[in-house]
Amino acid sequence: MTRHFLDIEDISVDELANLLALAEQPTLARVLSGHGVAMIFEKPSARTRNSTEMAVFSLGGHAVYIQGHEVGLDVRESAEDVARTLACYHRVLCARVIAHDSLHRMVGALDAGGVDVPVVNLLSDWAHPCQALADLLTLRESLAPDSAGPAVLGGRSIAYVGDANNMCRSLVKAAMAVGMDVRVASPKGFSFSEEELAVLAWLGRDEHWTGTLHTTDEPYEAVDGADALYTDVWTSMGQEEEEVLRRKAFRGFTVDEKLLAAAAPTAVVLHCLPAHRGEEISAGVVDGPQSVVWRQAAHRMTAMRGLFAWLLGAGNTGPVSARGSAAR
Ligand code: CP
Ligand code: NVA
Repeated sequence: MTRHFLDIEDISVDELANLLALAEQPTLARVLSGHGVAMIFEKPSARTRNSTEMAVFSLGGHAVYIQGHEVGLDVRESAEDVARTLACYHRVLCARVIAHDSLHRMVGALDAGGVDVPVVNLLSDWAHPCQALADLLTLRESLAPDSAGPAVLGGRSIAYVGDANNMCRSLVKAAMAVGMDVRVASPKGFSFSEEELAVLAWLGRDEHWTGTLHTTDEPYEAVDGADALYTDVWTSMGQEEEEVLRRKAFRGFTVDEKLLAAAAPTAVVLHCLPAHRGEEISAGVVDGPQSVVWRQAAHRMTAMRGLFAWLLGAGNTGPVSARGSAAR
């Protein structure tokens, strides 16, 4: 059965470990040799487009960048028909979509037709799992005590300060999957709903995630002694009309020098980028010595290489998860 990657729960804990280890290998089999990879973008991108395209190239394949309006998901033709069409030419279908459901519908159309083409989420309104893979690689690198190998993340702590958005959702799942102590601080009205917290708890049990999750509306409570701090924009793509309201609501949630001082002295700071200096993060922190944001950006490509290698068979030997997001 074809494996898809719409969010972190699409892969098991063991598979995630295999994928990360594959990504960390300096050389990988050219699993895309002679193959195409379609990349649909309904939203802008600097990192995701370039890292995915260059990962495809490095694995021997050819990436085709497709702007959303060219294929017109559900405007020119249905998301299902776009997927069926692109699967005629490509080995993998990657998409950055406005609505997460478009990805489910593409998966449904391909699976129903018995088409062996994985669908990869390059960001939706709901999730950003490829970024979360890069974040784990960055944490494994930057929290390692020496050069002996990647850090064990189990038991280490990460505090996310800001909007409980697509990025936060995938990061929380990824960090819990590897056993981290995860804290999320968001203003009231911008945190996970009770319903979603229940789903996260259920997913954690079902997928054997060993990490813990604590949510609060107090940034200092979340950050206290943390090994890593993470933030993302207050206004995500597609929410531009709420920008003024959000700027007001998120006052006090800037990751600045004072907040960073409440973390562990050796804490690293992550941001998926693009960053807005003076809003969710201060210039001094994002450009400061504890920031690992450029390693994160670099690991977007490391992660995509590992993901493609894993999806196309190198290490993808585990049982298919019946609980994965693509299966729902
Ligand atoms: N972090 C990230 O996904 O960046 P882009 O939106 O530039 O791809
Ligand atoms: N939450 C942000 C992430 C950008 C990479 C957005 O969706 O715009």
